[in-house]
Amino acid sequence: MLDKQILFSPSILAADFSNAEKALSEIASSGTDYVHLDVMDGSFVPNITFGPKFVADLRDKSDLIFDCHLMVERPERHIDAFLKAGANIITIHQEATPHLFRALTMIKEGGAECGVSICPGTSVSTLEAVLDYVDYVLVMTVNPGWGGQKFIPETVKKITELDMRRKEEGYSYLISVDGGIGRNTLRTVYDAGADMAVMGTAFFREQDKAAFLDSLLESLS
Ligand code: DX5
Ligand code: ZN
Repeated sequence: MLDKQILFSPSILAADFSNAEKALSEIASSGTDYVHLDVMDGSFVPNITFGPKFVADLRDKSDLIFDCHLMVERPERHIDAFLKAGANIITIHQEATPHLFRALTMIKEGGAECGVSICPGTSVSTLEAVLDYVDYVLVMTVNPGWGGQKFIPETVKKITELDMRRKEEGYSYLISVDGGIGRNTLRTVYDAGADMAVMGTAFFREQDKAAFLDSLLESLS
């Protein structure tokens, strides 16, 4: 039994988009309840992935908890579309809007859980005004834009800081980490206080995904 739970949110960014239904069923049978959906607009990040229609189409095929990570400028312009598409959690970037609180409120009032994310170069102090409001803080452990990048160790102190802050102030957010997470990095982020690990490459390269997640949990005990 672990001291503290860790949730896994596999990112379909590392899967074959032409067979996304298969990816969803692989995720469901691995034993986790979450799927991480990386939305990129080619502006906030250089890469482009997919929009709300893709999420809505997947919604019809799956009961997983849809954890949408919006790497888009001015996310408040798109929140309604992702709510309608069936997102259960919507995470937006602190850096992407001057109207962070309004955008987070739109998510919650729309019936989803809300998350705020920070890039590796952004400090936890920029989140001061929203820490009491958000359900998740997503610490990017790579520069957002692509899967398969190398974990940036300097980001770990932000996980520690967020864990400390919630203990001191009684905040209830979960800490999620995203980028370069796998067998070699999970222990570090878990010990620092992470509650949820997003994983793309490390998850989809495994044949037996359920055994992989079990072995990760075992490695933490
Ligand atoms: C990166 C995305 C991640 C990505 C993680 O910009 O936000 O969610 O899918 O992929 P891996 O686990 O391969 O680093
Ligand atoms: Zn992501």
